[in-house]
Amino acid sequence: MSNWDSFLTPYKQAVEELKIKLKGIREQYQKSSKHTPIEFVTGRVKPVSSILDKAKRKNIPLDCLESEMQDLAGVRIVTQFVEDISTVVALIRTRTDFVIVEERDYIIEKKESGYRSYHMVLRYPVETITGRKMILVELQIRTLAMNFWATIEHSLNYKYKGEIPVDVKHRLQRAAEAAFKLDEEMSQIRGEVREAQQIIIRSQEQQH
Ligand code: GTP
Ligand code: MG
Repeated sequence: MSNWDSFLTPYKQAVEELKIKLKGIREQYQKSSKHTPIEFVTGRVKPVSSILDKAKRKNIPLDCLESEMQDLAGVRIVTQFVEDISTVVALIRTRTDFVIVEERDYIIEKKESGYRSYHMVLRYPVETITGRKMILVELQIRTLAMNFWATIEHSLNYKYKGEIPVDVKHRLQRAAEAAFKLDEEMSQIRGEVREAQQIIIRSQEQQH
């Protein structure tokens, strides 16, 4: 690849645009004093070193990256509650500014590692100076608890170069169970949490 910077520019554009759009949804919910299904949004373009690692690992020729590497552009939506994930998914499905090309539900069926998340792959149009370019974007939707777990597991994978010792792996599986239970408990007391949030919003409104 001769020029990574110009190759990745439309990916950067797609990530930035989607972040703005999704944060816009969050703001609309907040303005309407409704519980927002979106707690926060993050996004990144895969660093070149990770692209090279993954291409090697998965035997992807560098001239096939556009179609073969779905997560060059990655956006993550983090929710408070598991129920919020289906709200977000439904919302994403109603959009007309991109096409959903794939959905993977690792919540109904968690990965062996313990990983849970809802994945969508989008085909997102970016306007470039040479015309419209379709970009694949991997959208990950997960709760705060799922995100906490995945973040820790990801750093351990990095630390151990993908070969996490068995005892640590088991510990992680137990932590994944605990995260799952936390999500369940939180769902159960959701009504009360929502009520508390309404009270906070109202008192903030009175202060302003
Ligand atoms: P990748 O080669 O990782 O893209 O796997 P894949 O093409 O089979 O797609 P998959 O949906 O399994 O994973 C896509 C992304 O989800 C990864 O790049 C990670 O960000 C995340 N992910 C998947 N599995 C795990 C996991 O076990 N732990 C963590 N921390 N993240 C995961
Ligand atoms: Mg993938």
